[in-house]
Amino acid sequence: MRKIYVAGNWKMNKTKTDAVAFALELKSKIEPFEKTEIVICPSFVALAPVADILQETRAGVGAQNVHWEVSGAFTGEVSAEMIESAGCQYVIIGHSERRQYFGETDENVNKKIKRVLQTCCLSPIVCVGETLEQRESGKMKEVVETQIKNGLAGLSTAQMERIIIAYEPVWAIGTGVTATPEQAEEVHGFIRELLSTIFDETIAENTSILYGGSVKPDNIESLLKQNNIDGGLIGGASLKVDSFVQMIEIAEKMGN
Ligand code: 13P
Repeated sequence: MRKIYVAGNWKMNKTKTDAVAFALELKSKIEPFEKTEIVICPSFVALAPVADILQETRAGVGAQNVHWEVSGAFTGEVSAEMIESAGCQYVIIGHSERRQYFGETDENVNKKIKRVLQTCCLSPIVCVGETLEQRESGKMKEVVETQIKNGLAGLSTAQMERIIIAYEPVWAIGTGVTATPEQAEEVHGFIRELLSTIFDETIAENTSILYGGSVKPDNIESLLKQNNIDGGLIGGASLKVDSFVQMIEIAEKMGN
């Protein structure tokens, strides 16, 4: 059975104080949950305090970016070991905002994934997705295929067991426009087929593929009902404890 995730990507939101307050409240509300994998991804400065608070709970903590080198003269960058030592279990790699605003390429994504897999226990959440222009010009599958093939190039099947994929159509991020469950399912199914071609059937069957792009309490159920959607990577609606917890409740009730 694939794991189902409700993962919050806070992007550049919340001070350390705000993040700590959220984590304390979340901790008090997630005790009843037993199935859903819960993840929050605060900014770098809040990782350690949030991870300390959530340590004994079922919620994991992830960073939003990582550098591909171990250490050295890379001013402003943060290594996988630093993230792991802050108490994290996850790191988002290749988010479309990093690709769009910070020049992230599939090659960088691949280097970052490989470095993260050198740590003991960090799992990369690898993001892919097409822009509106690419979708409208019929290049959606081609774009996603290139991102998947190049991003995951050279990984062994054993390494793939640690990878989580997030399909985030760029046109649905922060716009309030969600892909319909059918639109998302089409691409999720396509990604799963690709995984079976590049790796094998077992990897394809066991890899969690999350959907991201205007996920909220109102639409998460219809998305999670799709065969190939194994959770959400959620921006805006993850910033308030109540809506975040509501989405976990829905995932739990669906019996995942
Ligand atoms: P929104 O949920 O705010 O659209 O953001 C999605 C996202 O980019 C998560 O990584």
